Amino acid sequence: MKAHEIRLAKLGEGDLDNLSRWAQSDEAYGTYDEPSRLTLPQIRAKWEKGEYAYTWIIHHGEKKVGFCHSLPHPWNDWTAILAVIIAEPTARGRGIGTEVHKRLCHTIFALQAEVQKIEAYTDRENQAEQRVLEKCGFVQEGLLRKSGLIRGEIRDMYVYGLIR
Ligand SMILES: CC(C)(COP(=O)(O)OP(=O)(O)OC[C@H]1O[C@@H](n2cnc3c(N)ncnc32)[C@H](O)[C@@H]1OP(=O)(O)O)[C@@H](O)C(=O)NCCC(=O)NCCS
Repeated sequence: MKAHEIRLAKLGEGDLDNLSRWAQSDEAYGTYDEPSRLTLPQIRAKWEKGEYAYTWIIHHGEKKVGFCHSLPHPWNDWTAILAVIIAEPTARGRGIGTEVHKRLCHTIFALQAEVQKIEAYTDRENQAEQRVLEKCGFVQEGLLRKSGLIRGEIRDMYVYGLIR
């Protein structure tokens, strides 16, 4: 993987098909995350309401390989929640996720002046995501027992934090 081959582009109308295809696919979300199952009309409606203002499509060369976003925290406005999905399995394990996390954190801090902290939540067993977060300077802050739902199973999750 060469860093210059990776590009984050703001989600556009032409990306909604990809997003809805991935939203139906267990494979796209891997073992430790849950597809949203949103349909194309549902995704389009959210896009028209501006709900994807902080969502980017991950390009690797000519290919769209996934997406990432900054989500609002439910009870304060100085924390953003990061999520990265390398949806195309052949693109995983090549350093793309690490580069995307670094760029996404940089972009969040640059665009969202109010954000002082970025949090990430990941399944207790998702070692690839944990390794990536640690490589990007995140600190593991705690284990949230029984707090994620994946394919019907309530699971433990780690919370990680990165301070501006
Ligand atoms: C998790 C994810 C974002 C990581 O991105 P990626 O491009 O695959 O990751 P990278 O190649 O940049 O780095 C992965 C690191 O984890 C390590 N790793 C991968 N699988 C591992 C495992 N089972 N155990 C321990 N380490 C593992 C790799 O060795 C690498 O570390 P290194 O650079 O020190 O060798 C990506 O795999 C993905 O999107 N998976 C599906 C969805 C998901 O789980 N998203 C996160 C939701 S919280």
